[in-house]
This record gives sequence, structure tokens and C-alpha cells, in this order.
Amino acid sequence: MQFENLDGMKRTDMCGTLTAADENREVVLTGWVAKNRRLGGVNFVTLRDRTGIVQLAFNDKTDKDVFEKSDRLKSEYVIAVRGRVIKRTPENINKDMATGEIEVFVTELRILNASETPPFYIEEGIDTNDALRLKYRYLDLRRPDMQRNLMLRHRVAKIARDYFNDNGFLEIETPMLTKSTPEGARDYLVPSRVQQGKFYALPQSPQQYKQLLMLAGYDRYFQVVRCFRDEDLRADRQPEFTQLDMELSFVDIDDIISVNEGFLKKAFKEGIGVDVETPFLRMSYSEAMDRFGSDKPDTRFGMELCDISDIVKDCGFKVFSGAVQNGGSVRCINAKGLGSKLTRKTLDSLVEYVKTYRAKGMAWIVVEDGNLRSQITKFLTDDEAQAIIERAEAEPGDGILIVADKNEVVYDALGNLRLEVARRFDLIDKSKLNFLWVTDFPLFEYSEEEDRYVAKHHPFTHPVNEDIDKLETEPEKVRAKAYDIILNGNEIGGGSLRIYNSELQEKMFKALGFSHDEAWERFGYLLEAFKYGIPPHGGLAYGFDRLVMIMAGCDSIRDVIPFPKAQTASEIMMKSPSVVDKAQLDELGITVTAAEDNDEEKENPEND
Ligand code: AMO
Repeated sequence: MQFENLDGMKRTDMCGTLTAADENREVVLTGWVAKNRRLGGVNFVTLRDRTGIVQLAFNDKTDKDVFEKSDRLKSEYVIAVRGRVIKRTPENINKDMATGEIEVFVTELRILNASETPPFYIEEGIDTNDALRLKYRYLDLRRPDMQRNLMLRHRVAKIARDYFNDNGFLEIETPMLTKSTPEGARDYLVPSRVQQGKFYALPQSPQQYKQLLMLAGYDRYFQVVRCFRDEDLRADRQPEFTQLDMELSFVDIDDIISVNEGFLKKAFKEGIGVDVETPFLRMSYSEAMDRFGSDKPDTRFGMELCDISDIVKDCGFKVFSGAVQNGGSVRCINAKGLGSKLTRKTLDSLVEYVKTYRAKGMAWIVVEDGNLRSQITKFLTDDEAQAIIERAEAEPGDGILIVADKNEVVYDALGNLRLEVARRFDLIDKSKLNFLWVTDFPLFEYSEEEDRYVAKHHPFTHPVNEDIDKLETEPEKVRAKAYDIILNGNEIGGGSLRIYNSELQEKMFKALGFSHDEAWERFGYLLEAFKYGIPPHGGLAYGFDRLVMIMAGCDSIRDVIPFPKAQTASEIMMKSPSVVDKAQLDELGITVTAAEDNDEEKENPEND
């Protein structure tokens, strides 16, 4: 087929912007053919660009050559048209289409390029498997919902830049080739050619650089920055993701929270037209765990956890009494009004569900009129059963779901069970935006794998002042000046005030199990820098993809990332990672010992 060029066809308008106010204007439009409906003597072609679609009309008044050419148009052909905007007659108005009051009567048509039939429809909300969408990502990205997501992403970044600029922040870039430091996720490493045998690490976050920028006197910094973490993928986790990162000097937690509430308010208003009430609720980590079994509670619904350890600590059911005697606890949630839906089959599947969170099982008491349906009441006295029902505020029609174990397992299992029950029984009001600051995190968490305390956030987090004395004696009780920002149960960001005193920083390294020499070996540059006047400072980083995902109403960050990785951390359109030439490896002084052929896996990545 012969294709034409654009000469003399200067675009005047974007497709989605035309309205009745443009009546009678001559316009030149360009774009892709969405559909060509041939209705015997009349052709209606919908033309698409990233602003939307508009209907082009070809009929018996159309020049014969132009009409014949319009017959050849197929989906995804690239065309340019000149024509006149005309108002549709009232019965032909399409209220579902932004440009539905008008159409364009075409006087000139140029076919700039053809297209093969795409492997899936280029339209909203398609039900195609993710592997195919990722393989033909450029076509997936042409779909209107993906285009809206990326346009929203652009707007939110722009709002952030404007907002932080207006609030005295400077956008400063930090290196991508940096140093591998332990503590945190696994690094992505980049081999050095010039210094064979040595490696850079791609940054997991610009944490240390931004702290050094505070030392250097930049006062307020921000950056929209790519970060890399070699961890397992999930719907809200990608190996490379974007942070909206910031750091501020001479501030306390309230200053950081307030500047960020201002940002979120503006981002939601200007980004998606939603008014957000500030200030947001704040909740301590321990309250969040006790009430929701999670440090990122979804507060859009109730079903809070309830501790029944004191009631069952001496009961005849060994699973309960044993858990309490071993220092654990017994807690429950009340699935309000769901008793009749908790059939044996459903309960069995919930038992399987909690097992994925390491719980050994789940007990239940379904309160029916004058009867308790349960497999455990036979081990309890009537008083004990009654006390559980009262504590759980259960009435006939409710179902009490109980887990007994180490606290950590109870929280994890019930926290997730609460979400699962809410999802299965549709208890979540999707129109809500529940923001929440979770504060006072523990400074450390115990790593069974490493048999030592590790930093819960990172090793530069400032302990709560009154807990500093416990750093060496009771590290598990030390709280951190750290905070996370949660939205509808998603951790969309987190940060802390930092240590700005080298003695305290060294103490912190000691508590993490590093000797003085090891700490200097790994973080010497930082400890050295701290000798030269570091101001009190703190900051926060958003998971920018997660924030935009929620604003766009999506369930996976992949839908707001143009070229994301698939489940196996591969990019299946270009097929990365890939094998490289031996010559490239030789230059780097690298010999690959385990070269498995993963190509097949890359072609068929599992879906989330
Ligand atoms: P943190 O590790 O909590 O803090 O990361 C900040 C935010 O980044 C997002 N996030 C991710 N998003 C997608 N994929 C991932 N793999 C991923 N990992 C994290 C989360 C998280 O809240 N330097 C500190 C911040 C600070 O203290 O200022 C940091 O990186 O939304």
C-alpha cells in the first residue's frame, strides 16, 4: 500500500477536545483509527489520540475519492483528516462520548500508515492476560485507560515539583552508580570495567546522599528518583520503582507531617479533583498492631482484633492456654452479621488462608439463636464461651474467628484474615480515602535468619529520646522517631528523623552488631562527615508508583508504570535480563558459572 505524508496538514486540534462550540470550524486532526463502521453508503470512523476519540463522517456528500479511501481504513491505521465540525442531530447525540455532540465531516483524508490487527483490542478495561499485555506493551500503552494513568502520573509529578518548589525545596539528583551497603533489601550490582572485581550498587534509595546534602547546607531537598531493590515482586512491588523523596533540616516530626499533608491535599485536589481533610489521623505502631494486626491498617472498615488471652489462659483447650503460657496470645475478630455465610466450607478455606501466614489453625464460634456452632466450645466452660462472646461484642448472626500463637503470628494471621474476610464479603467502601500516620515504630526488629537485631527502617533513624538508654539493654523496647503514611491499607510512604550525632550513630551500629571497626569500614564516610556540623534533619519518601496507583483506582503498580517487570523480574518485551557476549564479560573480568537457560520462563511469566 502507498502511504501519504503530512505535507500541508498541520494539526489544529486534538481529537478529544472538540465540542459544540467548535461548530463549523475547519479542523485538521491526526491519530489512529479506533473503529470503522460501514453502514451502507455511510462510513463512521472513530479517530483516537491521547485526548480521546471523535467521530468522522463520510457520506453521499463526501467527495467520491475520499469516500473510497475511507472504505480502506482498518483499526489502528494512522491517518490525518481535514474536515468541518458539525453538530449532530439530537437523536444522534452520544452522551457517553465527550465529543458526542459533534462529528467531523471529512473533506480530505490521508492514510499515513497501516497496521496489522493487534493481538488484543485497543480499548478500556480489556480482559487479556498480563503476559500478552507486557509483550505488546506499546499497544497496551495505547489503550485509553493506560494513557489516562500515565497522564495522571505526569500531573502528580508536576504538582509535586510545583508544591515542593513553592515550599523552599530544591530538586537535586544523586548518583545511580553507588556503593553496596548491607541493611535493607538485596542490591542490584553493576560490575566495574575499570576496576575489575569491584561492583557498584544501584541505589535502594538516596538515603545517605540526602542526609549529606543536609550536612552540606541545602536545607530542603526533593527528588523524583528511581530506586532498585532485588526483592520478590508483588502487586505493589517492582524491582525498580520511583520514590518522591525529600529531606528537611531543622525540623521536627510535625513540620514534616504538615508539609506532606499539604502536598497530599494539593495532589488529590489538582490531580483527581478530590477534597482531602487534613490533618490526618495518627496512630502509634503498637495501637495499630493491637487493633488491626498490621502496621498499615486499612481503616475503611471495622472488624478490629480483640484480645481474649486472659479469658482462655487456663482453659481446657490446650492450643489456647498453651499459646498464652508460652508468652503468645489468643485474639479474635468478629465477622459481624456473617455467621450464616460462614459455612463449613468457607471456614475451612479461611483456616487454609491463615496457615499461609504461619498460623497453625483458626478456631471459630458462630453465634446462632440459642446455639453456638463451634468445634472448640466443648473444651470451654459456659462462662468462658460467654466471656469470649461478650469481649467480641458478638450477637446472634455473628462469627468469631480466633487465632492462638506467638504474638507476631497472631497479628499477621488475623490482620490478613480481617482483610480477606472484608474482600470476600465486600465490606470495603471503595469511595473512601483513609489516610493515617503510623508513628512510634520500634527501632529494631529481630532477624531470626541473622540471629541479631536489624533496623526496622534503616540504621540512621533517631531513637525516641527517652528510650536511648535502652539501646544496649533492651533494644526491643526502643521506639523510633519514624512514621509511615498509610492510605487505605497501603504504605504509600515512610520516613524518620535522623541521628545527627556521631556518638549516637556509633551506638546504633553497635546495637546492630557491628564492631567499631566494622562500622567505620562500612559507613566510615558517614561517620567522618558527621564530624563536620550536621544539622538536625529528617525526611520521607513516597512510593510514587503506589500513590499514583491509588489515585488512578488501580490494583497493581504495573498499571501506572510504562514498562514494568513481570513476575520473574523480566521485561518480556525486550527480554531482559539477557545473556551477554563473552567479550563483554571478559572486559569486566567476569566468568559466569551458572548460566541457566531461562528464556522459556521469560516468555511465560506467571501472572500476579
Ligand atoms: P522505604 O524503604 O520505606 O523508605 O521506601 C519508601 C516507600 O517506597 C515504596 N517502596 C516500593 N514501591 C514499589 N516497589 C518496591 N519494591 C518498593 N519498596 C518501597 C513504599 C515505601 O513506603 N530512604 C527511606 C525513606 C526515608 O526514610 O526518608 C526509604 O527508602 O511506598
